[in-house]
Amino acid sequence: MTLHNSEIKDPALAEVGRQRIEWASREMPVVRLIRQRFGAEKPLKGVRIAACLHITTETANLALALKEGGAELVLCASNPLSTQDDVAAALVDYGIPTNAIKGEDEATYYRHINTALDTNPQLTVDDGADLVTTLHSKRSDLLSGVIGGTEETTTGVVRLRSLAKAGRLKYPIIAVNDAQTKYLFDNRYGTGQSTIDGITRATNILWAGKKVVVCGYGWCGHGIALRARGLGAQVIVVEVAPVRALEAVMDGYQVMPLREAAKVGDIFITATGDKNVIDEAHFQAMKDGAILANSGHFNVEINIPALESLARRKRRLRGFVDEYTLADGRHLYLLGEGRLINLAAAEGHPASVMDMSFANQALCLEYMVKNRGKLEPRVYSVPEEIDQEVARLKLHAMGIEIDRLTPEQEEYLTSWEEGT
Ligand SMILES: NC(=O)c1ccc[n+]([C@@H]2O[C@H](COP(=O)([O-])OP(=O)(O)OC[C@H]3O[C@@H](n4cnc5c(N)ncnc54)[C@H](O)[C@@H]3O)[C@@H](O)[C@H]2O)c1
Repeated sequence: MTLHNSEIKDPALAEVGRQRIEWASREMPVVRLIRQRFGAEKPLKGVRIAACLHITTETANLALALKEGGAELVLCASNPLSTQDDVAAALVDYGIPTNAIKGEDEATYYRHINTALDTNPQLTVDDGADLVTTLHSKRSDLLSGVIGGTEETTTGVVRLRSLAKAGRLKYPIIAVNDAQTKYLFDNRYGTGQSTIDGITRATNILWAGKKVVVCGYGWCGHGIALRARGLGAQVIVVEVAPVRALEAVMDGYQVMPLREAAKVGDIFITATGDKNVIDEAHFQAMKDGAILANSGHFNVEINIPALESLARRKRRLRGFVDEYTLADGRHLYLLGEGRLINLAAAEGHPASVMDMSFANQALCLEYMVKNRGKLEPRVYSVPEEIDQEVARLKLHAMGIEIDRLTPEQEEYLTSWEEGT
């Protein structure tokens, strides 16, 4: 339904969305603090922001903080299947134009991105870099008005670094993903818990005793493996990077090539940021009943076209479960159409970790405006003082105190003279 520069599923869902946004806010004390300060200081006054993010309750709390800071904000979805329609309705109700409908097709997805770009944004907030790449490739007439941007996820940062390396990135972007207070918590504990949650909600399987194959032992893979083991699963890790594979071995997991793991796994979860990680030869080796899910950013980690062409029958058994029957009668079950399962079948990350990711987002956007014109068109790290500040505020909100260095220790840790 189209209204006030927005396209959402159903405005009548707004009240439910508002209540859920309020509930998430209880777990987002750092964003709440920033929102209060932004309300008083208005650091984003009149700044036009286009944000391409998963439309969830946590994103809504970030959006409200940016609006409170004076921003003129428009939102669109960063994935066709991750939108919470009640949240989209509530955002429109709060006066924030939103273009996102759960299950939208690719043409609608890009139309929504273009609607957000039509506002001529000065700042971009992206999750996966679809907004920024559309801006650079198809809407380059708008680039001159952009001050800067932020990027939320690993895959987006990889794409932007590649754009910068080709000399084609036209404005500065801060890689929020690479803040310690982001990836150590959001990617690890957030993706860990919510991926298990998404698969459980989609299938209602028992994890205890299952052989779970985790492809990719980055921060997301760390979290998924940790939580699956916690539920009693036997975890096998598949990697291509020697150091990470070694780390997985010493963390106590079995490590083997996917062609071997394919024969024994009950559940396969990808979190690599790579494509065709689970491919035709692997499908051919899998046991009857194997379950396939992806938690990486794009739906390319499992080779779905290959699975489609191997299958002689496909049917939807539950909301997010597609059964593929292969020529020899085996069944493979693909969850959430291979899209990030934690957002497709569950609610994405718990608010408490998004509190830190989105605190980084808000503070980096403020930093961009303060440093307008001073930054070069490249991918920047989150300033160290912002990263530390987010950790300090989070600890404070949790009621946890830590020790401080004494002056003597400070001196010792910055000098070379003292030895044995
Ligand atoms: N589901 C979510 O909510 C969510 C949250 C954060 C990040 N992500 C996405 O998850 C993906 C992983 O993120 P990360 O931060 O863990 O990345 P990362 O770069 O830290 O880890 C990815 C790992 O995958 C490994 N890998 C690459 N190709 C492989 C292959 N063919 N087989 C086995 N391993 C392979 C790499 O060696 C690396 O160790 C990215 O796409 C990221 O954008 C999703």
